[in-house]
Amino acid sequence: MESAAGLKILLIIGGGIAAYKSCELVRLIRKNGGDVTCVLTEGGSHFVTPMTLAALSENPVHQTLWDLRNEVEMGHIQLSREADLIVVCPATANMLAKMAAGIADDLATTLLLATDTPVMAVPAMNVRMWSHAATQANVATLREAGVMVLQPDEGPMACGEYGAGRLPEPEAIWDAITRWVGGGAGLAPYPEPTTQDGYQPGPLGGRHVLVTAGPTHEPIDPVRYIANRSSGKQGFAIAAAAAGAGARVTLIAGPVELTTPAGVSRIDVQTAREMHQAVQSALPADVAVMTAAVADWRASDVIDQKLKKSAAAPPALRLEENPDILASLGASDMRPTLLIGFAAETENVLDNAQAKRMRKNADWIVANDVSGGVGQSVMGGADNRVHLVTERGIEDWPEMPKDRVAARLVERIAAAMENGND
Ligand code: C5P
Repeated sequence: MESAAGLKILLIIGGGIAAYKSCELVRLIRKNGGDVTCVLTEGGSHFVTPMTLAALSENPVHQTLWDLRNEVEMGHIQLSREADLIVVCPATANMLAKMAAGIADDLATTLLLATDTPVMAVPAMNVRMWSHAATQANVATLREAGVMVLQPDEGPMACGEYGAGRLPEPEAIWDAITRWVGGGAGLAPYPEPTTQDGYQPGPLGGRHVLVTAGPTHEPIDPVRYIANRSSGKQGFAIAAAAAGAGARVTLIAGPVELTTPAGVSRIDVQTAREMHQAVQSALPADVAVMTAAVADWRASDVIDQKLKKSAAAPPALRLEENPDILASLGASDMRPTLLIGFAAETENVLDNAQAKRMRKNADWIVANDVSGGVGQSVMGGADNRVHLVTERGIEDWPEMPKDRVAARLVERIAAAMENGND
């Protein structure tokens, strides 16, 4: 299936405090044109009610294996087989353990054992439960069996502790669903776990990947700034794909309205100088992908008060150059093993990109033509047509969604790291 509209999801809600976020996920699935049927475990029903889920999903909610009417009208096996995808959210430590062991002692676990439909599990639990060897072994078993187990987020927990185990935000879960269904962004077919969790790494397991994304805003006065049309979508997709391939990912984002991909650490900045500082602080990195459309110039004098219109001539805007983050990484003692830049050009795309690769001491430049007039360019759009410029020459990639560009680039990165750019 290429798109998430019309997708039929069977959502299994486990018994954890994060269950309340599954209500928001139901709403997002519906809003995006998907169909969702909920299965509520006994534990889950202590946190959310079947009434809420039925109202939001506009479908009956299933809770028990021993419902004769359902068994006549719709067997539990059929319930799972009618879905395109089963999502277990939140997947508690107990649920993951049962799934890994093949225990089928309630409706949810019976469905999961009986199904041949793809399954995604979104873990949420206390940090110690998540890092416990038993849970990690269960996650490894499930991944081995083809279950897509997302990485939980890191942060403060409902229990007062801090660490990995938080349920990713519903938008990030929906994002992961659509990318998986679309077969893009490094999540297909199954993401590999990271080494920080202490088990078998994926193709980028154990690597630190640094990504910059979005525009920068350079202030002129307290209300005005210099910016560009970059949306950050391509960089966010690369961060998501790298995380899906098992890397530890630091995403340094300019001002954009995008959801942080699951398992990615994000640092928000406004200006080029802040971005430069954040990149320096995030080193060392094995791979850096500088996707951001950094403003080349900033106002030399930022005015404290809002500039006023007056009868005199308009004020002159004096500019000075911003640091070139890519070039400074290329010249740094801590240069990442694989340094990748982007080049948004409106003319002589390939010549300029090759020259840029040499000038900035980057290994690869991903070049795209952003001509096409205001509002029509790839900047901000969903698709991209790029050329990969390397020491060996130029590859032209066909036009494809930014997620696909990201997935393909991450595959190339993993191959390069394996074959000696290391
Ligand atoms: O020179 P140009 O801006 O076209 O180069 C684009 C590449 O350089 C991108 O990878 C962009 O992220 C990076 N860049 C940078 N710092 C700047 C300008 C561009 O890192 N000040």
